[in-house]
Amino acid sequence: MIIQMENVSWRRENNYILQNITWQVEEGENWTVMGLNGSGKTTLLNIINGYIYPSSGEVTVLGNRFGKCNLQELRKQIGWVSSSLQENLYKNETALEIVLSGKYATIGLIHTPEKEDVEKAKALLVSLACGKLINLPYRTLSQGEKQKVIIARALINNPRLLILDEPCTGLDILAREQLLATISELSLKPEAPALIYVTHRVEEILPIFNKVLMLKRGKVHSAGTAKEVLTGANLSDFLETPVQVNWINSRPEMRLIGDRWFA
Ligand SMILES: Nc1ncnc2c1ncn2[C@@H]1O[C@H](COP(=O)(O)OP(=O)(O)OP(=O)(O)O)[C@@H](O)[C@H]1O
Ligand SMILES: [Mg+2]
Repeated sequence: MIIQMENVSWRRENNYILQNITWQVEEGENWTVMGLNGSGKTTLLNIINGYIYPSSGEVTVLGNRFGKCNLQELRKQIGWVSSSLQENLYKNETALEIVLSGKYATIGLIHTPEKEDVEKAKALLVSLACGKLINLPYRTLSQGEKQKVIIARALINNPRLLILDEPCTGLDILAREQLLATISELSLKPEAPALIYVTHRVEEILPIFNKVLMLKRGKVHSAGTAKEVLTGANLSDFLETPVQVNWINSRPEMRLIGDRWFA
């Protein structure tokens, strides 16, 4: 079992940000987490990483029951890719230094890296088609290149779980497809981590994401296989507006039906 959540809630003052979340991620599954702005997706990820502690309920991640484990050690097994991380990184460091800082989970490379880590960081960048970026300052990279460098950073500790929080934000359609292809390739390797991919866009849900969790106002709206969850009827219920879903080359596309917004 990768993640086990039982009745997890997180309250702020009298508001439930997450309420009674029960969710299991098993070995071999890759999940997409969907939900509108403010539905609790990032909060859920923060609970998985142990950055916030649930008000009630039980969380076990990679066999570590929260409250009885060393979170620092657990976090080394979890790769984390998010745009807030991208904003926080030292922009003057090279792509290679950014990847190496992932080894120690520090912002900025404050340790002297081992030679074998330098080789590994280079190999990771090459495997993500970023070999030519190795010595370039991070600040000069395009958005898509930055995302791939952050993914390489997240992979340097061979995580068992890789969390991607809206990695395609700000990417053009070609850069997006290229990044999705990279994620797809990564997931097919024998040592691949389990993936959790947060997005607003059903078009980004690749065939490798066999499971989908839909969060609505802090609760589980639906969860199951992509084919079960991503139906026109379920998404219309989720969005409270009629939508249609078409599957093209095993990928879903969604469009609003009718002229509600343009009457
Ligand atoms: N520390 C906090 N204190 C109070 N409220 C919070 C806190 N963190 C998050 N929230 C609230 O919880 C709700 C869920 O936030 P969260 O960031 O999890 O949403 P999200 O689904 O990731 O949204 P988005 O798609 O916009 O990234 C929001 O209404 C947010 O304002
Ligand atoms: Mg978020």
